[in-house]
Amino acid sequence: MELKQIYFDQLNLDQKEITLIGRVRSNRQGKAVSFMILNDGTYLHDLQVVYKTDTKGYDDALVSRVASIVEVTGTLILTPGKQQPFELQATEIVLLDQAVEEYPLQKKEHSPEFLREIAHLRARTKTFNSIFRIRSTASFAIHKFFQEEGYVYANTPIITSNDAEGAGEQFVVTVNEDKDYENDFFGKKAALTVSGQLNAEPFAQAFKKVYTFGPTFRAENSHTNRHASEFWMMEPEIAFAELKDGIKVMEDMLKSVVQYVMEKNMEELKFLESNLEEGLIEKITGIVNSNFKVNTYEEVLEILKEAIKNGHVFEENNIYFGLDLGTEHERYICEVVNKCPTFVTNYPKEIKAFYMKQNDDGKTVAAVDLLVPGIGELCGGSQREDDSQKIIKRCEEMGIDYKDLDWYIKLRDYGYYKSTGFGLGFERLLMYITGASNIRDVMLYPRTPKNLLF
Ligand code: 4AD
Ligand code: MG
Repeated sequence: MELKQIYFDQLNLDQKEITLIGRVRSNRQGKAVSFMILNDGTYLHDLQVVYKTDTKGYDDALVSRVASIVEVTGTLILTPGKQQPFELQATEIVLLDQAVEEYPLQKKEHSPEFLREIAHLRARTKTFNSIFRIRSTASFAIHKFFQEEGYVYANTPIITSNDAEGAGEQFVVTVNEDKDYENDFFGKKAALTVSGQLNAEPFAQAFKKVYTFGPTFRAENSHTNRHASEFWMMEPEIAFAELKDGIKVMEDMLKSVVQYVMEKNMEELKFLESNLEEGLIEKITGIVNSNFKVNTYEEVLEILKEAIKNGHVFEENNIYFGLDLGTEHERYICEVVNKCPTFVTNYPKEIKAFYMKQNDDGKTVAAVDLLVPGIGELCGGSQREDDSQKIIKRCEEMGIDYKDLDWYIKLRDYGYYKSTGFGLGFERLLMYITGASNIRDVMLYPRTPKNLLF
């Protein structure tokens, strides 16, 4: 039987015989009775096993070390009022595999840094078990939301010849060492994708609503707690839709995902609330119930200038049109001023990607970033420029080589009317939901500059 089933069916299982295979979390010999705490990975909470000298296999049970695997048979007894809701009074314990004494994850508390060095074992701790279970649920919730809304899931390629964001942050894919790309595997320079967007747009023209959800890669030398070199992005793309439609999808999707995680993983959330972030559940409940705010970039500048006038000091205190907002500014807007997730729209074209729809004012683009308290930027998106000539001009102004983007630009000439999409940084969403303060702690095996373990 699995532990989860025992928890969910405990009332019916009272006084019944049960057999379970699990890993020893702790094992303590007492005078009259001994206690073994087991977990089989199917549920957050553990099973307390009570055994005595007359339990078959007593001698093996006694020497079972932390992390060993045992099979226990016994009678389940409800123990209302005690710390755990029930215990298993063992009639037989079989030591299936003994772990070594030097098991790195003994019971004491470990630092997140140490646990990252044993990323292959840390999912056995309750904190990481909770985080990765929520990761799985949230991933499913994203698919569930988009599938129920009629979107087609598009698996865009990982190896690509385009730099979608034009930011020059790609990892090159090569079978040679000599940078002779013409004679390389693909006969041209290839790289890992930074975003599936450019490949998704044509599919939105074919299906109206599509989404991608997969790994993306950025050779960005950012040493922050919110940047990883490999991360998962989810990118919907919607044809015949404007920026405001995209904003609505963002809000609806986030609320739906958070709500689904709350439905499925409340035990994990409670555990994380008591271990990682006080007030976590109230915070994410707030997301579901609040109305997100919308500010234009220029409104944000005014708010920041006003704050400075009133004595607030930012590290970057020079606020001007064209400033790429820093995390401190973003967090000030959503944490201090609005106190809720905030969409910032219509950024200066100079600080945004070449494909964004140019507004009539000649200086801004129809872009949107979603800022959330504690994180900063969670999603970034835009309405796409639908005039091929304007895209070409923008590429030229920005020094972007567009010869490999011919297909993308020409798409505009084959019947193309308004397309909007955005990218959600999946790990940032998980940081927000789980209370993890470092992106490395919501990824199974994080990849960051100078860090490629496992
Ligand atoms: O804002 P970004 O760069 O937008 C795009 O890539 C667009 N093509 C999306 C679109 O319109 N379809 O990235 C989207 C999101 C960011 O808001 C952020 O949450 C996340 O991806 N992100 C990262 N997450 C972790 N580590 C990094 N290095 C990240 N870079 C971006
Ligand atoms: Mg962005």
